[in-house]
Amino acid sequence: MFKSEVYATRRAGLHKLMKSGIGLFIGNVDAPMNYPANTYHFRQDSDFLYFFGLDLQGLTGLMDFDSGKDWIFGNDIDMDDIIWMGPQPKVKELAARCGVTNIAPVSKLEGVIREAVSKKRTIHFLPPYRAETKMTLGSLLKENPCQMKTLSSTALIKAVISMRSIKEQIEIDEIVKAVAIAYEMHTTAMKMCRPGMKEQEIFGAIEGIALAKGGGTAFPIILSINGQTLHNHNHGNVLAKGRMMVTDAGAETNLHYSSDITRTTPVGGKFNRKQKEIYEIVLKANTDSVKSARPGISNRDLHLNACRVIASSLKELGLMKGDVDEAVQAGAHALFMPHGLGHMMGLDVHDMEALGENFIGYNDQVKRSDQFGLAFLRFALPFKPGHVFTVEPGIYFIPQLIDQWKSEGKFREFINYSKVETWKDFGGVRIEDNVLITENGRKLLGKPVPKTIPEIEATCA
Ligand code: GLY
Ligand code: MN
Ligand code: MN
Repeated sequence: MFKSEVYATRRAGLHKLMKSGIGLFIGNVDAPMNYPANTYHFRQDSDFLYFFGLDLQGLTGLMDFDSGKDWIFGNDIDMDDIIWMGPQPKVKELAARCGVTNIAPVSKLEGVIREAVSKKRTIHFLPPYRAETKMTLGSLLKENPCQMKTLSSTALIKAVISMRSIKEQIEIDEIVKAVAIAYEMHTTAMKMCRPGMKEQEIFGAIEGIALAKGGGTAFPIILSINGQTLHNHNHGNVLAKGRMMVTDAGAETNLHYSSDITRTTPVGGKFNRKQKEIYEIVLKANTDSVKSARPGISNRDLHLNACRVIASSLKELGLMKGDVDEAVQAGAHALFMPHGLGHMMGLDVHDMEALGENFIGYNDQVKRSDQFGLAFLRFALPFKPGHVFTVEPGIYFIPQLIDQWKSEGKFREFINYSKVETWKDFGGVRIEDNVLITENGRKLLGKPVPKTIPEIEATCA
């Protein structure tokens, strides 16, 4: 973890924003996979990590915004645990690591909450996303566990988002490390991208890199020659010439900061003409977007610029037609790019998504569109220095979507369906990078992963 002052300073910042009531941060516990003692990989809650840093099960952090005092509730382990898990630090020592001096056993937490409730003090908590946390909150607050999300504190959500959105230098350094691991994962995948290889073999090799060099993957790896399926978690295909392999993969560092990189590699390592045509368009959408990112410009503008690049280039290829601005305004390009340009990134790969996408990426002035495609943009606000986000345009030929739109005659004025028919077996291309907004512009984070056609072909060779 970082030095204890880092967490003390962050908590002091939150105390300043919140002023009164109690902030309750329930850390994660082990979750059983198929029987209680056989658990999923443990992942600590990101807000608990941000304010308390302790990467262990069964701890709760409490901030009393009136008195300014912080607490850790946790149990020292007993001899039974030591026999199976080895010796573990005492809660007192753990708490000291994040600058907290007040500790108590978990059994005391209920009394503290009951007393606060009886005094009509507000208990602020963030929206829980795990059943275990909902149960704990329900039991502490004597409320229906299923209602916990709706009872969460909007004031606390907004305060936490305002802090976590602006990355500290130590956080940026972690993300750079996470991209370095992703570099190893992606260049390994490129070298293995040969006809006859199974997707599963490449998937396993790069998942192993994430585990060997950091805290594992930041999200389940997407690796498929069916890249037209945006989040394809099936790795059952054998690679065949003529297909492209979309690899969307990132790592967590040991402190759980993430990277999220996508590269698309032709099977066999050489792009054919059609692959080059689509790849160069996505590359231009990616590099133009990165170049345009700076404080003040919004991610919605960046997204729409990328869509115009894609629509105008697809028009040159004869796949789209008509006025490009009108086509993008109407949402016709979303046949080929049905997702948003990117999202914030940090301790979560979709940073803070558990707190509610509309709190992160939208506000009273900037409302989410309900148009197919644009509606999936996770972050639409103007950028500020310290924001870290992804730029991930793509072009996909989704046969089922093409068939549906064609049969409905949708956007016939902008889409040349007879030509699109001849591309239905293409698959997809996505190119994703991780970007920091600086005072005057932006910076691509981390060791650059091969991206241009010559770079990718050279890596594969
Ligand atoms: N890794 C999923 C995404 O790019 O958002
Ligand atoms: Mn990704
Ligand atoms: Mn992403």
